[in-house]
Amino acid sequence: MQHVGSRMLLLGFGLAAATALPVGAAHAVDAAAITTQGNGKGAAPCMACHGVDGGGQASTGNPRLARLDAAYLQKQLDDFAGGARTSPVMQATAMALSDDERAALAAYYSKLPIPPVLMKPVTPMPATDSVGAVLATRGRWDKQVPACVQCHGPSGIGVGAHFPPLAGQPAAYIEAQLKAWQQGTRHNDPLQLMQHLSNALSAQDINAVAGWFAAQPLDAKGATP
Ligand code: HEC
Ligand code: HEC
Repeated sequence: MQHVGSRMLLLGFGLAAATALPVGAAHAVDAAAITTQGNGKGAAPCMACHGVDGGGQASTGNPRLARLDAAYLQKQLDDFAGGARTSPVMQATAMALSDDERAALAAYYSKLPIPPVLMKPVTPMPATDSVGAVLATRGRWDKQVPACVQCHGPSGIGVGAHFPPLAGQPAAYIEAQLKAWQQGTRHNDPLQLMQHLSNALSAQDINAVAGWFAAQPLDAKGATP
């Protein structure tokens, strides 16, 4: 095995030398250029829908990408490309991106600062005893729905690579994702955590909890103040 391994290595060096690629050339993707111009191979300019600052678009429900975890973002792009997550807009773009481009774009967006507009949400904060607030912070245990913040972090600021932030996402986006799990058009969640939970929610619950998270202000680091 060692023998084969070293031959593969030599072959690798040979190829790199033959094409005169500098080491690490695979990472030399200009992610910023793709966000403004697309990649010229079918991937649309990201900023047209996700905003110049990666803050998303509340009116259309296009999600915020700025300061989301890089591994999470990359997984979503892979899932769109592979079909575990369906979207008429995102799938064609994700499929037109190479693996390196997806990784570079995920890294790029994960490092963008929180757009100031998300620090002061336009919608007022729902009351603490409203349906949305109760679902988000306490859950509904008789229906086996844990509090959203148990996984998504206090006020939905997000936790690591697996639990994305909900704070600072448009209400329409959160709502659409919960419905996509109900309908099975998004089936990329580990252990079907989100699918089970979404199925236990009514349309009114979904609307209320989405409104609560969309109303959470963020500070500059991406956490809630
Ligand atoms: C035509 C509009 C449009 C363009 C252009 C676009 N997106 Fe999207 N993007 C969307 C929409 C809408 C969604 C939500 C899809 C859904 O319903 O699941 C989305 C979702 C995403 C998500 C998932 C976010 C999350 O929180 O799970 C990522 C990552 C993403 N887009 C990255 C990109 C990148 C990178 C580009 C540029 C190469 C891009 N998008 C271009 C509209 C767009
Ligand atoms: C047991 C853990 C857990 C709980 C509780 C939970 N979630 Fe999630 N949620 C996840 C995981 C894991 C993902 C990421 C799935 C993936 O990898 O795409 C997710 C993703 C999401 C997304 C998609 C975000 C995006 O950027 O696309 C939304 C919206 C969401 N959850 C809403 C909720 C709401 C609302 C609640 C409470 C009613 C809730 N979640 C409770 C684990 C949980």
